[in-house]
Amino acid sequence: MARFFIEGGRRLSGEVDISGAKNSALPIIAAALVTDKRVVLKNVPDVFDVRTMIELVTHLGAHVEFRRNTLTIHTPRVKRVEAPYDIVTRMRASYYVLGALVARNRRATVAMPGGCAIGPRPIDLHIKGLTALGTKIDISDGYIHADARHLQGQNVDLQGPKGTSVGATINVMLAACCARGTTVISPAAAEPEVLDVANFLCALGVEINGQGSHEITVRGCDTFNDNVRYSIIPDRIEAGTFAVAAAITRSRILIKRAVSEHMTSVLEKLREIGVVVRETHNGISVNGRGRRHATDIFVAPYPGFPTDMQAQFMALLSTVPGTSTIKESIFENRFMQANELMRMGANITIEGDTAVIKGVKMLSGTQLMASDLRASSALVLAGLSAKGITVVRRIYHLDRGYEKFEVKLRRLGARIRRGK
Ligand code: EPZ
Repeated sequence: MARFFIEGGRRLSGEVDISGAKNSALPIIAAALVTDKRVVLKNVPDVFDVRTMIELVTHLGAHVEFRRNTLTIHTPRVKRVEAPYDIVTRMRASYYVLGALVARNRRATVAMPGGCAIGPRPIDLHIKGLTALGTKIDISDGYIHADARHLQGQNVDLQGPKGTSVGATINVMLAACCARGTTVISPAAAEPEVLDVANFLCALGVEINGQGSHEITVRGCDTFNDNVRYSIIPDRIEAGTFAVAAAITRSRILIKRAVSEHMTSVLEKLREIGVVVRETHNGISVNGRGRRHATDIFVAPYPGFPTDMQAQFMALLSTVPGTSTIKESIFENRFMQANELMRMGANITIEGDTAVIKGVKMLSGTQLMASDLRASSALVLAGLSAKGITVVRRIYHLDRGYEKFEVKLRRLGARIRRGK
């Protein structure tokens, strides 16, 4: 199994190009199933999860070509309406075909996704939303069977115990784009990736308003535009990860194509820590050479501090003098990186949903095990700053969501290689 070998303690310099957002690309590829017209997507990141989504839509009948981050999808006819267990188990985001198939074929069978490394991940809000639009849902044999003969626009309430849901908002938007009448989703998730999916559907010809706010209106339609070309937004989490790479190695780098408006809370925290962040005409420059200070982070839905950046900041704060805290209120088991960081010498105590981090002078390299996507990148970042050699195992987690991560780091001057 592949591992990363990292020689820590080197400064980074130069520029890095940010890829397209994985969490936009996955639902947008599924969304392309709603139309029988050809769609061209640009800036699609070549990561494992995207490859899995391509495998899934191909299984359902799409003709797909993927070259140099450009993906052409054409589904003149949906051949199957079943997302099989072996694909869903590899990638939860497979459930986006539920909304798309309901829209296109009025029927879908999708394996129930289970929990995952970051905690229980219910899909009750997806089901509630689709049911509100008139879909009959039956869960049996580990599959969700959806029958939507009478898809009708409605007011859909997506309030859950942890707020609204990114995935459920997108699934309901997808189904609503072929429903009769108007659907109002409230509260809707406002993440930039939700906005990106809505903008893609608008490019197809669907009338959507309010995307990017907590109330989205979708008016169903039955014909779609020809020759749609759409470019996926840059990945704010990849950009944030590189910003932390600069901060933790006390370096100065330029992160090209990073969209600072999508990263306000992350950039604010970096500034609070003492990192100098400047917006440039084509991205952001990050300088981590100054004096650093401890801080407190509260994870919250957008525009709050993203749960997908929490692990990387834990690595950074492990090396910042003073006591910092991170409160993770979205996922229940998302401090998996803490134990591995402690094996590098970090001083972290977990109290319920809060991690208390006392900065140490220097982490030391050792053998580590990655547990999920963002925890993996956090361990790599820690390794870049640590004394000696860090070996990170199970990096297939990282390959799911970061395009050419070690290649981009090497171009910045890091000593990192992939090996067995
Ligand atoms: C998306 O997951 C992202 N995944 C996650 O990124 C991200 O961490 C998360 O949003 C939060 O920003 C993709 O976009 C593919 P949610 P999603 O539904 O849609 C609860 C990464 O590393 N909930 O907004 O699954 C849920 O348990 C990944 O790239 C319900 O209670 O997240 C959680 O506590 C990991 N019922 C909260 O809502 C539901 O039906 C937010 O989850 C659905 C969710």
